[in-house]
Amino acid sequence: MVSCRICRSSLTPFLSLGQQPLANHFLKPQEFEAEYFYPLEIMFCPFCKMVQIMEQPPADLMYHEEYAFYSGTSSHMRRHFEDFAAQVKGQYLTGPDAFVLELGCNDGILLQNFLDPGIRHLGVEPSGNVARAARERGLIVWNEFFSPDLVPKIIRDFGQADAVVGANVLNHMPELDTVFQSLEKLLKPDAVAIFEDPYLHDVMRLGAYDQFYDEHVFLFSLQSMDFVSKKFGFEVVAADHQETHGGSMRYTLCRKGQRSVHPDVKHWREREIELKYDRLESYQSFAKTCESSRDALLALLKQLKSQGKRVVAYAATAKGTTVSNFCGIGPELIPCLYDSTPLKQGKFSPGSHIPVLDAVGFKDDPAEYALLLAPNHAREIFAKEKSFAQRGGRWILHVPRVHVLEDGKEIT
Ligand code: TMP
Ligand code: ZN
Repeated sequence: MVSCRICRSSLTPFLSLGQQPLANHFLKPQEFEAEYFYPLEIMFCPFCKMVQIMEQPPADLMYHEEYAFYSGTSSHMRRHFEDFAAQVKGQYLTGPDAFVLELGCNDGILLQNFLDPGIRHLGVEPSGNVARAARERGLIVWNEFFSPDLVPKIIRDFGQADAVVGANVLNHMPELDTVFQSLEKLLKPDAVAIFEDPYLHDVMRLGAYDQFYDEHVFLFSLQSMDFVSKKFGFEVVAADHQETHGGSMRYTLCRKGQRSVHPDVKHWREREIELKYDRLESYQSFAKTCESSRDALLALLKQLKSQGKRVVAYAATAKGTTVSNFCGIGPELIPCLYDSTPLKQGKFSPGSHIPVLDAVGFKDDPAEYALLLAPNHAREIFAKEKSFAQRGGRWILHVPRVHVLEDGKEIT
């Protein structure tokens, strides 16, 4: 029996994504043999409704000196975080000596927006390389895992916070209880915690099984966020849907009764009940969709190979690790993978061992098809690589279902 990390009830498995490697661990050939794998099983808690993975690899294997994910690689995300910061500044950091704390600040893509008006800030980031990149932007960053031990130190150096923010971070923290206990101490009485994470409804609606990988221990919904918040005396006062990461929700939390609750919160709560996200059957039917999607993608790639077509992949994402390992796609079907992150280039994709090449070389690759492993960046990548479609190249996407685009139009 596996128990829920939130309410200790017994969890029900609904989707098995097979043996998976560390999603962001792009590796060298000499590391292939000892590569770490774990079973990626997705579970639902019938009591608190939290969707979570069964087993998570040790944190020091996932976050370290060579963490391969730099948030700042996308210009679209840079704009997104400017807007996020503007909202936080305008609504919650209006006092003369405001202090904002970011958990998991990565390379500082969000936090840098507080520098210019000179707002007191602190980022806490466990991965050394990205923490250094944030410091190079002039930010104050502690290179540590966030833990309750840090709370007295933060309060000693900065005082309590007006806002604690985290983007795609809370879903990475298995010890949610201690995070909420820390928030209770860290936040001023009417201060807010704002967390933006991939949203259950978008994953369900798109059949986006690629949101599940080692780092994403939870997939939040309003119903599960309500449960955790209530457990610690907080409540959700705003829920703003975002387009990022294929669909995310920005939850604003504060101590119960401190602020008025935005009507959107009720709207999303009701929507989730209408869609039956409180019932196991919905997850079982989602699992069937994912399995069909896997079969369809593999069948398409095999068919193209048998026709002698060259298919490459684009964007060496953590999501792509789940896709290639769940579907069983290796270099025999996809000979190479293009990506703009220098740290990934010259290495091989986790588990599937597809060589990663510099994205600048994509223009010269004669491939007829390209599998886009970053569907969340489709607009930006299609614009950057428009010559591919112009010369007759076709994009393959695996969400919302497996389909092929020719000149922007779906052909299968
Ligand atoms: P993400 O989907 O987790 O945000 O990861 C984005 C990955 O996609 C990262 O490895 C960089 C890569 N990428 C490109 O190679 N070219 C691009 O234009 C964009 C936006 C991302
Ligand atoms: Zn539970």
